[in-house]
Amino acid sequence: DRMRTEGPVVRLRLPIVGRTWLAASHESCAELLKNSQDFARDPANAGSRTQERILKVLPRTLGLLASNMLGHDDPEHRRLRALVDDAFQRRTIAALKPTIVEMADRLLDKLDGKPEADLMTEFCRDLPLSIICAMLGLPEKDHDRFKNWLGGLKDTANVFAVIRAIPGVISVVRYLRRVSRPGGGARREGLIAALREAEIEGQTLSEDEIVSMMFLLFGAGQETTTHLISGGLYALLTNRDQLSRLRQDPGLMPTCIEECLRYVSPVQMTKPRFATRDLIWQGRQFRRGEMFAAFLAAANCDPARFEQPHTFDITRHPNPHLSFGTGLHFCLGFQLARAEASIGIQRILDRFPDLRLARRLEDTKWHKRLGIRALARLPVRLAA
Ligand code: HEM
Repeated sequence: DRMRTEGPVVRLRLPIVGRTWLAASHESCAELLKNSQDFARDPANAGSRTQERILKVLPRTLGLLASNMLGHDDPEHRRLRALVDDAFQRRTIAALKPTIVEMADRLLDKLDGKPEADLMTEFCRDLPLSIICAMLGLPEKDHDRFKNWLGGLKDTANVFAVIRAIPGVISVVRYLRRVSRPGGGARREGLIAALREAEIEGQTLSEDEIVSMMFLLFGAGQETTTHLISGGLYALLTNRDQLSRLRQDPGLMPTCIEECLRYVSPVQMTKPRFATRDLIWQGRQFRRGEMFAAFLAAANCDPARFEQPHTFDITRHPNPHLSFGTGLHFCLGFQLARAEASIGIQRILDRFPDLRLARRLEDTKWHKRLGIRALARLPVRLAA
C-alpha cells in the first residue's frame, strides 16, 4: 500500500537483481504484462547482452534452465508452450481429479489418530509434488528425493542462501536428464515420454530443451500450489467466520479459492520484463533495456479494483486478481492449481471437522522470500 501511494510504478533496488521498476497498481501491472511489444521477457530483445554473458560463465546445467517458455518471447515462446498446452487443458485436468482425490486421501490417512500435525510438511507440500511427478511420469519411488533437493531454497533475498541452494538444483537437473533418456525410468504415459516423441516443424526437442521444460513445470507447478493450499488454509483458520460459511455451504469453494489466490498471492511478483525501446509510460520516461516487474501482491490489494482489499471474503465476486499473471505468459497451470487447491482444502476440512491452528501461533512462520509468499510451517490441532 505504501509503495502504491508513491505512484503506479516505483523504483527499487532489489537484492541480487539490482535496480528495477515495480508496477504497484492493478492497472500498471496488467498493462506491463499485456504489452509484450514494449516489454520483453528476453533481455536480448531489449538490447542487453548481460544475461547472455552470465549464461556463458555459469555451469551448463544451470544455464539451460533459463531456456524455457517463461524466459522467451514469441515466436519461440509460442513454439514451446504449444507442446504442453494440451496436457493442461480443462478436460485433461478434469480427468485428473480422481487421482488428486486419491492422493489427497492417501496423505490424510497418515494423519488419522494424530492430535496435531504440521500440515506444511505432512500435506501441503506433498500433494502438488505427487501430482506433478505423476503428470511428468516420474517413478513414484523417487518423489521423496525432491523434497530434500528443493527444500534448500528458503531465503531468496540472501545471496548466500541462493548459492547454498545450487547443489540441490543441480541434482534435480541431473536426475531429470537421466530419467528423460529412453530407458531412464520415466513412465510411458507421462509428459516426459510425450515430449521425447513430440515434433514441431519437423524437429524433435533436444535433451536440453526437454530438461529445461521439465524443470520449469516442476518448479512452477509445485511450490506455488503448495503455498496456495497452506496460505489458503491459514487464511481460513484465522478467519473462522469465513471457515464456518464454507463448511455450511461447500458450494462457495470456487469463490473461496479465487479469494485465497488474491489474499495470499503465492507469486508476489513476476519475472522481470525489459523495455524494448525508449518510451513514456504511466507518466514517466523510461530508457531501452530498463528492467520492470509486476508486483502482483500489490495489484491484488489495490483499492481502485477491490473493495476492502485487506478483508478475506470467500464470497467476493467478481474477483479480478492477477495471481496467475496475464498476457502472453498467463499461467499454464491455472486449472491444475485450482483443482488441487479446492480438492486439497475440501478433503482436509471434511476429514477434520474440528481443525484449528495449534495453540502456539508463533510456530506459524513465514519464510523471508522475495517472489513467493511462503509459510515455513502450519501447525494445527486435528481433533477437538
Ligand atoms: C506462469 C502463478 C501454478 C506452470 C505463471 C505466472 C504466474 C504464475 C504469476 C506468470 C509469471 C510471469 O509472467 O512472469 C502461479 C500460481 C500457481 C501456479 C499462483 C498456483 C497457485 C502452476 C502450475 C503449473 C504452472 C500447477 C504447471 C504445472 C506455469 C508455467 C508458466 C507459469 C509453465 C509460464 C507460462 C508461459 O511462459 O507462457 N504462473 N502458477 N503454474 N506457470 Fe504458474
